[in-house]
Amino acid sequence: MERASLQWLLSLTSLLCCTTNQASLSVSPSSSQLFEGQFVSLSCEEDDSSAGRTLRRNTTRETRTECGGKWGKSTGSMCNLSHIVPMDSGVYWCQSREGATSNSINITVTGGSVILQSPVLPVMEGDDVTLHCKTKTSNLPADFYKDGSLIRTEPAGHMTIHHVSMSDEGLYKCHSSSHGESPPSWITVTGEELTFDFTTYFIHMSI
Ligand SMILES: *[C@@H]1O[C@H](CO)[C@@H](O)[C@H](O)[C@H]1NC(C)=O
Ligand SMILES: *[C@@H]1O[C@H](CO)[C@@H](O)[C@H](O)[C@H]1NC(C)=O
Ligand SMILES: *[C@@H]1O[C@H](CO)[C@@H](O)[C@H](O)[C@H]1NC(C)=O
Repeated sequence: MERASLQWLLSLTSLLCCTTNQASLSVSPSSSQLFEGQFVSLSCEEDDSSAGRTLRRNTTRETRTECGGKWGKSTGSMCNLSHIVPMDSGVYWCQSREGATSNSINITVTGGSVILQSPVLPVMEGDDVTLHCKTKTSNLPADFYKDGSLIRTEPAGHMTIHHVSMSDEGLYKCHSSSHGESPPSWITVTGEELTFDFTTYFIHMSI
C-alpha cells in the first residue's frame, strides 16, 4: 500500500473510531411530547466507557442536574422517570466524566389533554415524517400549525411531510376543536449523513 493511502486510511480509522465512540441518547416512548403521569426511559447508547457516564438535564428550574439525584432512577446507562410532570419538561443529554456530550433531546410534558407526537431526534433531509395529534387514547381530527400559521387540516389526526427539506424545520403544534391545543415542539432537519462504505473503499484500493 502506498504511503499516502496508508496515512489516509489511518486518519479515516481514527475518524471512525471517534465518531462511533460518541454516546447517543434515546428516549422511550419516542415522542417529543408526553402526558403527565407517563413512564419514560432514557438511555445512553453506544456507550463504551459507561463508567462515569451521566444523564443530565436543564429544566426551567434546574441546570445540568443528574439523573438519580433529585429526579429519575438511574441504572447503568439508563434513567427512568416513573411519573412525569410538566416540570420535567426540558433538554436532556448524556455526558462523560471528561465533559463530552451526546446529542440532546427536548421533552415537553403536558398536563393538558392533547399532544403533538413528533420525532425526538432530528429528521434526515429527504425522509418522510409523520405528526400525530393525540389524546391519551386516540388520534384527534386537528389543524396543524407551523411557526404559528395553519398548514393543514387533517380529519384523521395525522399528517405526513414527504421528502423533508430544511425549510420544513420549525415549531409545530396542533389544535383540536373538541380537545384544545398541544404544546409546540421544534422539528430539526439535518443534512444527509456522512457515511462511509469500507467495501467500496477496498474495491477501489485493489483496482
Ligand atoms: C444547560 O444550561 C446551561 C446553563 O444555562 C447551558 O450553558 C447549556 O448549554 C444547557 N445545555 C443544553 C444541552 O441545552
Ligand atoms: C428502567 O426501565 C427498564 C424498562 O424500560 C427496566 O428494564 C429497568 O430495570 C428500569 N430501571 C429502574 C432503575 O427502574
Ligand atoms: C430544543 O428546542 C429549542 C426551542 O425550543 C430549539 O432551539 C432547539 O434546537 C431544540 N433542540 C433539539 C435538540 O431539538
